[in-house]
Amino acid sequence: MTKSYMFPDNFKWGAAASATQTEGAANSGGKAKNIWDYWYEIEPERFHKGVGPQDTSTFYQHYKADIKRMKDVHFNSFRPSISWSRLIPDGVHVNQEAVDFYNDMFDELQKNDIESIVNLYHFDMPLNMQNKGGWENLEVVEAFKYYAETAFKLFGHKIKKWTTFNEPIVPVEMGYLNHFHYPCVVDMKRAVVVAYNSMLASAKTIQAYHELNQGGEIGIILNLTPSYPRSESEGDLKASQIADLLFNRSFLDPSVHGIYPEELIELLRDYELLPQTDKKDIELIRNNTVDFLGVNYYQPRRVKERESEYTSDKVLPEMFFVPYIWPERRMNPYRGWEIYEKGLYDIAMNIKDNYGNIPWYVAENGMGVENEERFLDETGMIQDDYRIEFYKEHLKWLYKGISEGSNCFGYHVWTFMDNWSWLNAYKNRYGLYRVDLETQERSLKKSGQWFSNVAKENGF
Ligand code: BG6
Repeated sequence: MTKSYMFPDNFKWGAAASATQTEGAANSGGKAKNIWDYWYEIEPERFHKGVGPQDTSTFYQHYKADIKRMKDVHFNSFRPSISWSRLIPDGVHVNQEAVDFYNDMFDELQKNDIESIVNLYHFDMPLNMQNKGGWENLEVVEAFKYYAETAFKLFGHKIKKWTTFNEPIVPVEMGYLNHFHYPCVVDMKRAVVVAYNSMLASAKTIQAYHELNQGGEIGIILNLTPSYPRSESEGDLKASQIADLLFNRSFLDPSVHGIYPEELIELLRDYELLPQTDKKDIELIRNNTVDFLGVNYYQPRRVKERESEYTSDKVLPEMFFVPYIWPERRMNPYRGWEIYEKGLYDIAMNIKDNYGNIPWYVAENGMGVENEERFLDETGMIQDDYRIEFYKEHLKWLYKGISEGSNCFGYHVWTFMDNWSWLNAYKNRYGLYRVDLETQERSLKKSGQWFSNVAKENGF
């Protein structure tokens, strides 16, 4: 049968995962605590059904069989992250058990012809680093660079694609503008410092990687949530422009162009939010841009101008714009996120037109659904047709973007198997494989079957 949507040769098909969400073994294998382990210890009630990060999906024990399952569904690539607090538990000395684990995991992937795209930071600040102030402290930026260099030296001969951060805006937004990630600070001035220092850490890491000359590439993964204004009115357009500056361009521009948007600098200056910067660091960011981009896309951001008086005494993003509920929106009710497939095309075109058509890939796209057990059929397979529909429609728009010249080289779903999702724990399931939490058994969902065919055929 001829396919309507055929993707370019060597297109990467696979999934992303993160150490904290899949490995488990949070308190073994020589791993030190990260902020999630600690936060769970002191406030377990914040986590859905009181489920914490200790065991997550037991990938640490079952990675061999899981990699075999990836092969079964025709993955040719996979993005795991390394846990900083596992690799260098005390911030200085390398943990040999971690080296063995990651070496073996990468070898196993290679044996199965699955290319690793290895991410260095996925929301998992080691507790000892957070105790020093986390990203607010430049010492931690240096410690991150040391960790990254250590990883390059240990694994760089076998890993040819690295990423510095996954969604660096998320710890800023959730941990320094809201109460959803530890340390739950609500302070925009501190949030700006965290964002700037994360960017600095990314640029320093890119520099270190390029200096090692290992013949690979390094990028960053950003969650680009296109901003759509309610209307073309001046106020709505400005609201959407500011949302875009704060939540997309704050990392996208320096990562790809090496410079911050002038409008962002002005806005921060007007509100006395500009961080202390050093000329050398600005140069460093300018000279160490990414080789490629990973884009996580789940939802758009619809905004309008603020119509009511802003009463808080704090400067926060909601001072500049408020959410707009588009009457035609379709929701994923479990996650509370709008589903808007065309957003992926808009991203593809934005990268093509405004970011030098840099090579990029979809690094995460997926749909979390609660209580999926109700879709189990008599054979024990979850009939998740909604997820197939979700992937299909996004892929159609991605295909259109590629056909119009956007330089996209792959599509990774979130995620391979059901995993632990931060505060939501196991509430919403995202996997191509179901994970039975009692037995840790994995079983393929209907979407896994579908994805397997698409990956095998390079299209549908
Ligand atoms: C992405 C993250 O933002 O979204 C993942 O990189 C996360 O870590 C995924 O799990 C889905 O979001 P959530 O909050 O439903 O787990």
